[in-house]
This record gives sequence, structure tokens and C-alpha cells, in this order.
Amino acid sequence: MRNKIVAGNWKMNTNLSSGIELAKEVNNLVVNNNIKNVKVILSPPFTHLSDINNIINKEYISISAQNCSYETKGAFTGEISAEMIKSIGAEYIIIGHSERRAYFKENNQVLNKKVKKVLENNLIPIYCCGETLEEREKGKLFEIIKNQIIEALFDLPEEDFKKVIIAYEPVWAIGTGITATSEQAQEMHLFIRNELIGKFGKAIADSIPILYGGSCKPSNAKELFANPDVDGGLIGGAALNAEDFYKIITSF
Ligand code: PGA
Repeated sequence: MRNKIVAGNWKMNTNLSSGIELAKEVNNLVVNNNIKNVKVILSPPFTHLSDINNIINKEYISISAQNCSYETKGAFTGEISAEMIKSIGAEYIIIGHSERRAYFKENNQVLNKKVKKVLENNLIPIYCCGETLEEREKGKLFEIIKNQIIEALFDLPEEDFKKVIIAYEPVWAIGTGITATSEQAQEMHLFIRNELIGKFGKAIADSIPILYGGSCKPSNAKELFANPDVDGGLIGGAALNAEDFYKIITSF
């Protein structure tokens, strides 16, 4: 059985005090209702990571960063290393979010280096892939996803690859209110799973969680999560409201 996972990607939202408030609200809902069948991950901005790590109950909730440098340390002004993130108690790092790809020009080669740096520091990468609307309309969606997976992940040794979480986030669904249909999500998750089987074999491929992201909300989470290859969600907008996020967490 694969882990069920719901991760909240806060992006560049909240300040320290509102972020702490939000984390407390999520923490209380998850702890008071004793939600243990789902791995709940919060991914606040860098500036909040340490404080939030200190107020959540780690038995129920884990912390993720939204990005890291592929460098180890040194003269890279403004960068944050995986080791720094590890040192504050985070366990995950989101790598390759489409906003990083689009606005900060991160390509599969750069992301491959980042994934390796995350794993080197005994953290878990949540590796994002997804096609744009144009790519989907031109029928290139499977080719794009395949390249994103192969170029960033397929040179990992098996032992490392086993730790990776994949998030399929169609770019046209992110922050747009348009969600992939349950069929579209399952179709792509199964495609990804089959690619993983081809490279790493069925046992490993079957153990890798594949999350869906892109306007996932309380009203559609249940249907999306009911698919055999959808193991949870990477949630943007709806993760900024504790009640909505909690409803998604309890949608399995
Ligand atoms: P969204 O974002 O839920 O606001 O569409 C998802 C994401 O970008 O991770």
C-alpha cells in the first residue's frame, strides 16, 4: 500500500504571524481528529519554516520547503541549501514546480541536480511535472511528461529513486480553477506509473506516491483521490484555508 499524502504548497503567501496561525489551525484539526492515515505536509515560505516546525505536532505533520539550491554551500547570494533546510527539521523539498520552471527558467537538467542534492541530504523531493495547455492541445502531453521524468529522475540509483514523491500538476489547472477531470488525472498518473515500471520495475514503481495538483479543492478531491494511481494531492490555493485543506485531507 502506498502512502496517502496531502501537501499544502503555500507559495509566496502569508507573513510570519498569519502563517503561524494557519499552521496552528491545520495542526489542531489534524491532531484533534487524530488523522493518521494520511501524511500531511505543510510547505510554507522559507522564512516561516523554523517557527512552524516548532509549533506543529511532528507525529501528524511534516514540513517541506518549496525550493532549494543545487549547490552545497558558499558564495551564492540569496540561495538556500538543502542542508540548511534539513537543519531546521524539514523533511521534504518541492522541486520543479511549474512556477519555478516558467518564471525562474529551471529546466530538467537543473532540476536533476536539485533532486540529487535533496536526496544527498536525506530529504525527500516532491518532484513536479506537468504540461502546458498548448502542449496538451498539440497532443504533446505524454512526451513532455516523459521527458520531465526521464531527464530529472531516471539516472538516480534505485535506492534513491525509491524515496521520491512525484506530483503531476498540469500547468493549465494550477491556480486557474480548472481541474483536470478524474479521468485525465488517472490517465496521466497511470502513464507515469508505467514509465516507472519500465525503468525501475513494478515493485518500486508501485511504491512511489504520485500526487495530483492543480485546483484541487474540497469539492473535487474525493473524486480525484478515488483513482487507483492518484495517491493524494499537492494543494495550492485551498491550502491557505485550514478548513478547506482539512476537508481535502479527509477526502480519501
Ligand atoms: P492550486 O496550486 O491548487 O492553487 O491550483 C497547486 C500547486 O501549484 O501546487
